[in-house]
Amino acid sequence: TPRVFSGIQPSGGLTLGNYLGAMKRFVEMQGPEFETIYCMVDLHAITVWQDPAALTRNTRELCAGFIAAGIDPEQSILFNQSQVPEHAQLAWIFNCVARMGWMQRMTQWKDKAGKNQQNASLGLFAYPSLMAADILLYHATHVPVGEDQKQHLELTRDIAIKFNNDYGVDFFPVTEPVIEGAATRVMSLRDGTKKMSKSDPSDMSRINMTDDADTIALKIRKARTDPDPLPETLEGLEDRPEARNLVNIYAALADLTPEQVIAEHAGQMFGTFKPSLADLAVAKLSPISTEMARLMDDPAEIDRILARGAERAREISVPVLRRTYEIVGMVGAV
Ligand code: TYM
Repeated sequence: TPRVFSGIQPSGGLTLGNYLGAMKRFVEMQGPEFETIYCMVDLHAITVWQDPAALTRNTRELCAGFIAAGIDPEQSILFNQSQVPEHAQLAWIFNCVARMGWMQRMTQWKDKAGKNQQNASLGLFAYPSLMAADILLYHATHVPVGEDQKQHLELTRDIAIKFNNDYGVDFFPVTEPVIEGAATRVMSLRDGTKKMSKSDPSDMSRINMTDDADTIALKIRKARTDPDPLPETLEGLEDRPEARNLVNIYAALADLTPEQVIAEHAGQMFGTFKPSLADLAVAKLSPISTEMARLMDDPAEIDRILARGAERAREISVPVLRRTYEIVGMVGAV
């Protein structure tokens, strides 16, 4: 069966972007068609400073989020990255396959390192090589992500191809990115040209999965828009990034296409559309945040789920790493 792998960083504050761009789609892919593996990438999170107690809490909260959103830890493999040491081990091999120039071109590196690259962690620079290891360790065929991860997935393909070439093997598969749906790039509620992000200084720019109903409604009511009514067709949303974003969010939450949303709401002013969107968002998100809070009451149970997930992940990762070591020529690998 084809295998799905994806990851989310436990760096705090799951946003509506993470939910619609990633988690909701992880849930949709769970089923007989795919074997699904979802990872809380704590090793990636520490490429920028994380307070230890917060990292622990955020990892548990993310796990609660996965389950509350509909991931079944029996059906899917759900675990945190650091409990499966093969991720870091394979990443080292890939550090020796990937080239500095490839990393230097990554827009996420340039954005996150900012002007003072000399002061960024070495881990932040090598980040995509660990991400390639996450995916290739499971020979994953499908990787659902938001638009912002596309470049990293292309680099994963480059690493797989170069490894296979360098060692003259056909071992690592070339992975398919799955970037689909109306919400592959959820934008800030304050600026339709910026991605919705947990690192935006304004909390009004995003909806957090832990926001209560009143907060969600307030943020949508205050979201930046333009004074025009919703158009008759999707083309009418060109050059209206904020309007387009709210239509996309509505579509993703309601499991409709943006075209269908436009058809239903054509001619409406935002004074009418926003309350419908707020009601929809609250109806879809509140049950998840309530369930997350309930699961967080029993952190020991969450830790058991993650430990069990890691055990299952290692049934796959240990033989793949061993075979990789063997290909590379490490003594003791066979
Ligand atoms: P991270 O933790 O930044 O985000 C997790 C997922 O959420 C998606 N996402 C969005 N989608 C739509 N609109 C947005 N505004 C938005 N913001 C975030 C991201 O695209 C992502 O799918 N490098 C990854 C984590 C990772 C990973 C992997 C992913 C590590 N190893 C292996 C796939 C496979 C990251 O930082 O995602």
